[in-house]
Amino acid sequence: MHDHHRIRALLDARRPGHTLPQPFYTDPDLYRFDLDAVFARSWIAVGFECEVAEPGSYLAARIGASPIVITRARDGALRGFHNACRHRGAQLCAEGAGRRSLLVCPYHQWSYGLDGRLVRAARMGENFDPAEHGLVPVRVEAVAGTLYACLAEDAPDFAPFRREVEPLLAPLALQDAKVAHVDTLVERGNWKLVMENARECYHCDAKHPELSFTFPTGARGNFESEGDPARIAFDDRMAARGLPVGPVDGDWYQAARFALNDGCASMTEDGRACVARPLAALTEGDVGSLRWALEPHSFAHAVGDFAFLFSAMPTGPRETVVTSKWLVHRDAVEGVDYDLGTLTALWTATNLQDRDLVENNQRGVDGAGYRPGPYSPEGEALCARFTDWYCRKARDYLDAVAPARRLEAAE
Ligand code: FES
Ligand SMILES: [Fe+2]
Repeated sequence: MHDHHRIRALLDARRPGHTLPQPFYTDPDLYRFDLDAVFARSWIAVGFECEVAEPGSYLAARIGASPIVITRARDGALRGFHNACRHRGAQLCAEGAGRRSLLVCPYHQWSYGLDGRLVRAARMGENFDPAEHGLVPVRVEAVAGTLYACLAEDAPDFAPFRREVEPLLAPLALQDAKVAHVDTLVERGNWKLVMENARECYHCDAKHPELSFTFPTGARGNFESEGDPARIAFDDRMAARGLPVGPVDGDWYQAARFALNDGCASMTEDGRACVARPLAALTEGDVGSLRWALEPHSFAHAVGDFAFLFSAMPTGPRETVVTSKWLVHRDAVEGVDYDLGTLTALWTATNLQDRDLVENNQRGVDGAGYRPGPYSPEGEALCARFTDWYCRKARDYLDAVAPARRLEAAE
């Protein structure tokens, strides 16, 4: 059980518009608190429908400390489960996507259908009822080819996200895409430092030469146009092509289509499209980028020729695993329609630069000299939004869930 009085006091001590008090970035108890209060109670972007397109396919991922698996059973339905055997709890499938007719536990070979039912368990005796030992379900949602999961039964309302973000995602036709590349990167930094870094471009001009070439590093917040004539011309051009631009702004998500720097058609090192086959017919040519982002852990960009997802998962008080996925049209052939190195170069370079920034940030935050510092109102508005959201989420948990747990424990 977390020390709720201490966490509440730390939340009370926090100055709005500033980075958080030190323990939020360093303390093992707060790391476990974050898994329970934030990661177990949020919608997490786990990947794409194309990773589980065929009946008999699965995608295994992790939400905080909990391995999960999303399956497409023979009946065509998409389901989510805890990726833990109902015998003695072993993890069923290694992380990643694959195809199986049964999920067979690597320990004692209990076997589950992709619908979660236990179909085989040897030598369990006459009184054993397989029906009582199916996989534990997890909530899953699919939106225009993107996939989300939430561990909590009382998950945040998904309907507003679907209603607002689906029209922006739909023209990308991501259900017709394929994953061209997956990369994971271990960063020795607290997940909040990873996410604060991912929510601002205050550092981009100095630290990301590749990204800054195409990305409007001076953009504010969620790319609001604020009367900017170039932005209004872009919005008009997108409207003429039937591409909504947003912006949409929910409690735990944001999305907007925005213009890349002049003359750039993609987020590549030279600003040129690198996949001969665009994502969808509608997105040929310069369509800027559609950015969508979820608190607590992810952002994604879709330019005309590919989509990119960045997802951060805490694995320790000072360790975060970043998973990156690149998607191209499913008919695009590697080596013919695109070169994998060219496709992945910009975000790989950016991720490595960001890892160094995060690890260096952690070193300073770990020291006795750390004091919460002010965000730039113009350059770090989304950092302030992130920490505000985090503190609300933490308080919600302390107010609603924790007292109920204490009651249960006392019963
Ligand atoms: S733990 Fe899975 S079969 Fe024993
Ligand atoms: Fe960065």
